[in-house]
Amino acid sequence: MKNYTLPPLPYSYKALEPHISEKTMTLHHTKHHQAYVNGANAALEKLEKARRGEAQIDTRAVLRDFSFNYDGNVLHSIFWPNMAPTGKGGGAPGGKLADAINRDFGGFDKFKAQFTDAAKTVEGVGWALLLHDPLTESLVLTQIEKQNLMHLGGAAILLGLDVWEHAYLYDVGPDRPKYIENWWNVVNWSDVDSRLGKVAK
Ligand SMILES: [Fe+2]
Repeated sequence: MKNYTLPPLPYSYKALEPHISEKTMTLHHTKHHQAYVNGANAALEKLEKARRGEAQIDTRAVLRDFSFNYDGNVLHSIFWPNMAPTGKGGGAPGGKLADAINRDFGGFDKFKAQFTDAAKTVEGVGWALLLHDPLTESLVLTQIEKQNLMHLGGAAILLGLDVWEHAYLYDVGPDRPKYIENWWNVVNWSDVDSRLGKVAK
């Protein structure tokens, strides 16, 4: 089983002072981010033990745990290099990013105000994010409550199964297991394989 590891910070713990303290950065990176890395690894280990018949697990709870910790790892791994040492960051973007922000948000100031608002209004704990939407080739804002996307953010989806009732109610009534059993008969494995081929190294 492959394990996740904590990526090093691209600068020292005190590099963002006085804006973010050495203490905050140290705790955030070595305690919180490390905990997500450990949590993701622990969840994978539980799943593997269950597959080997060595442990009984609540699969739903373990997968929820895995998603939470995986996403914590992914989001923080982006968060650190999203920042630069004091004196080297801040200001306004240039280049293609500036053009895209101007195009999609009507100017940097408008973007900054709305991103700030998004960050302020996340319910409870979470994230504000700027995303590139491949469907429209444009930039969009989103919020994450907590960090549990319940899918692996940033990971390419290879195979999906819709278990909303709209996917099976007319066929098998509320018998979701029957629907799933049926579905296995129609999986397009060559499509799944070609999706993997596009993203695997
Ligand atoms: Fe964090």
